[in-house]
Amino acid sequence: MCHADKDAKGAAGKSIAVDAAKFAKSVHGELNLQCTDCHADVSVDKIPHPDKLKPVNCATCHDKAVKEYAGTVHAIARKGGSTLAANCTDCHGTHDILRSKEPASHTNHANIEATCSKCHGSDAMAATGKMPGGNVGGKFHDSIHGKAMKGAAQGSAPTCNNCHGSHNIRPKSDPASRTNRARVPETCGACHKPERDEYVNGMHGKLRQDGVLAAPGCTDCHSAHGIQQHETPKFQTEVIKECGTCHADYLATYRDTFHGQVTALGYSRMATCASCHGAHAVLPASNPASKVSKQNRLATCQVCHPGAPPGFASFDPHANKHDRARDPIYYFAAKFMELLLFGVFAFFGIHTVFWFYREAREKLGRGNGKEKH
Ligand code: HEC
Ligand code: HEC
Ligand code: HEC
Ligand code: HEC
Ligand code: HEC
Ligand code: HEC
Ligand code: HEC
Ligand code: HEC
Ligand code: HEC
Ligand code: HEC
Repeated sequence: MCHADKDAKGAAGKSIAVDAAKFAKSVHGELNLQCTDCHADVSVDKIPHPDKLKPVNCATCHDKAVKEYAGTVHAIARKGGSTLAANCTDCHGTHDILRSKEPASHTNHANIEATCSKCHGSDAMAATGKMPGGNVGGKFHDSIHGKAMKGAAQGSAPTCNNCHGSHNIRPKSDPASRTNRARVPETCGACHKPERDEYVNGMHGKLRQDGVLAAPGCTDCHSAHGIQQHETPKFQTEVIKECGTCHADYLATYRDTFHGQVTALGYSRMATCASCHGAHAVLPASNPASKVSKQNRLATCQVCHPGAPPGFASFDPHANKHDRARDPIYYFAAKFMELLLFGVFAFFGIHTVFWFYREAREKLGRGNGKEKH
């Protein structure tokens, strides 16, 4: 009687129209749920009902989902007074709720990004709602995963809830979160099993198993939302700097080499850290399985230097002119060059001082009128 009129307005001037056709097509409409099943404080015997009604309690019928949601980041923020943190209707809608498998559902795999990005898709919104990370939706959208969601790989590509969960979304600081530092390799490994397996057997992965959370996990090198295809020059050159955040001395010595200087200019078709050490199965040189062990080193160089003779691998990619024990020849050669440089500057420096002195004396002599020539 009242809500079918699409211009119907309530006491506060807000629309109270309900699209009957849309509701009929919703999962609840199809099941012939009555308005009063959800708006339980309205009784058909007492119409008109009061202006103020209680919010709909989904828990009457969905206690499992409600339990999962309670205790998560959005539910806790709501309890703390946030009006912006996602509740049932922010993600599912109200009268237009569809099963997730329906292509038009707000929670369909293809539409989750848009549903979460209503709030997590702009810096302004993120600032208002104190949402960490800012515009993560935008970063995700431009990532390899975001792009895959638009193509043929959509079914297998991850969207927000594949990494975060649907109801059990928790902040990364919570050990129970799928995005907690300790759990990220498992979360990504659900789809990237070969990389995960290599990683857990490498030095970094082993450190993680020993509880050293400072060792890098997938997102340290790849980021979480801005993940790029690994062959892009941007990723290749940036990941070198990322290795350097923890291995500063090795980055510095690498930059002294031809490989390091060329990659610093942005060219990626050159030996990067990962070309020699591997990306995931990174091992100490003393381990025979390492790509840079005595046994494997030449083969590693030969990938790009085909036909390189055995002596080639004696080239030290981390030669350090400050480290006398590691490279005595390089150390003394560098010291000699420094001395030579100093000597040359010192000699010509003194020479120039005397030269000016002589010039000045001659000029002064001229000024006194005692010119001889
Ligand atoms: C599946 C549960 C459900 C059913 C069934 C349902 N509603 Fe609602 N309705 C909601 C929710 C959720 C809201 C949002 C406000 C809130 O949380 O209480 C809402 C809001 C409303 C509003 C306020 C305006 C708006 O759209 O936000 C009106 C009016 C309304 N419903 C009328 C109806 C009528 C009429 C029917 C029957 C045709 C109906 N509802 C059936 C869940 C339901
Ligand atoms: C942050 C977004 C979000 C919030 C908040 C949310 N849901 Fe969901 N919900 C989802 C997504 C996404 C799915 C689909 C999961 C899938 O397809 O694996 C889903 C699935 C469901 C399902 C069907 C699957 C199942 O577990 O039976 C129900 C029912 C449901 N939600 C009810 C609720 C209720 C009730 C609330 C409020 C307590 C709620 N949801 C809050 C995102 C959300
Ligand atoms: C009066 C009971 C009732 C209320 C209240 C109710 N629902 Fe439902 N809902 C159902 C029934 C019954 C189904 C069909 C369940 C099924 O077939 O598995 C359903 C289905 C759903 C589904 C699809 C589940 C799936 O398997 O894909 C979602 C999502 C959902 N409801 C969300 C909500 C939300 C959000 C609210 C609160 C705004 C709500 N419901 C309130 C009874 C209710
Ligand atoms: C491939 C997995 C993955 C996908 C897809 C993903 N996230 Fe994340 N997200 C993470 C990880 C891992 C973290 C933890 C942050 C870190 O380790 O840098 C995170 C952190 C966050 C944070 C907290 C930001 C911070 O810096 O603390 C928010 C908010 C967030 N994600 C929302 C989203 C939204 C919204 C989407 C979809 C548009 C999404 N995420 C898609 C893995 C993912
Ligand atoms: C209606 C707005 C809204 C929607 C929709 C929404 N969120 Fe949020 N989200 C928030 C707010 C607000 C916070 C900050 C809560 C707080 O105060 O801690 C938050 C916090 C988070 C965090 C915790 C970040 C951290 O590390 O503390 C994650 C992760 C997250 N949301 C993921 C999602 C995902 C995934 C979806 C979609 C399935 C989603 N959100 C949908 C508003 C929303
Ligand atoms: C639900 C499955 C799924 C999850 C979870 C997932 N990915 Fe992916 N990822 C994919 C798919 C599918 C592609 C391929 C996209 C393409 O090639 O078009 C991809 C592509 C990638 C690529 C680019 C591969 C290349 O060819 O260079 C990287 C890197 C990557 N993912 C890292 C991660 C990281 C890190 C995480 C965890 C934070 C993660 N993925 C979580 C499915 C997933
Ligand atoms: C220490 C840094 C680092 C860590 C940690 C790391 N990666 Fe990588 N990953 C790389 C580099 C570098 C490449 C590119 C290798 C190359 O160019 O051959 C790469 C490549 C990839 C690719 C593309 C592989 C291909 O050949 O198509 C995927 C997928 C991937 N990583 C996923 C992961 C996952 C999942 C994890 C966590 C289990 C992870 N990475 C941990 C640095 C890392
Ligand atoms: C977040 C910090 C971090 C990042 C990023 C990182 N590593 Fe490591 N890496 C470590 C730690 C810690 C160890 C263990 C060092 C030790 O035990 O002396 C280690 C060990 C190694 C080792 C074995 C050498 C040894 O001393 O045992 C190699 C080789 C290595 N990393 C190469 C790389 C490469 C290549 C990258 C980039 C693709 C990288 N690392 C990125 C922290 C990092
Ligand atoms: C051209 C190949 C090559 C490149 C490029 C390269 N390395 Fe190395 N790296 C080696 C070799 C060979 C060794 C073993 C040297 C030795 O005998 O100590 C080594 C040793 C190391 C070690 C010590 C391993 C151990 O077991 O003690 C670390 C850590 C390391 N490199 C990190 C890096 C990082 C970080 C980068 C990039 C900034 C990088 N490397 C670039 C070939 C390379
Ligand atoms: C990913 C490919 C790649 C790998 C692996 C690689 N290099 Fe290189 N390297 C290059 C390219 C490209 C150049 C520049 C072109 C050239 O001179 O052949 C270069 C140049 C050099 C140069 C300078 C040559 C000159 O002409 O001045 C030396 C020395 C060198 N590499 C040593 C090594 C050693 C030793 C290894 C193994 C530990 C190695 N490289 C592994 C790609 C690679």
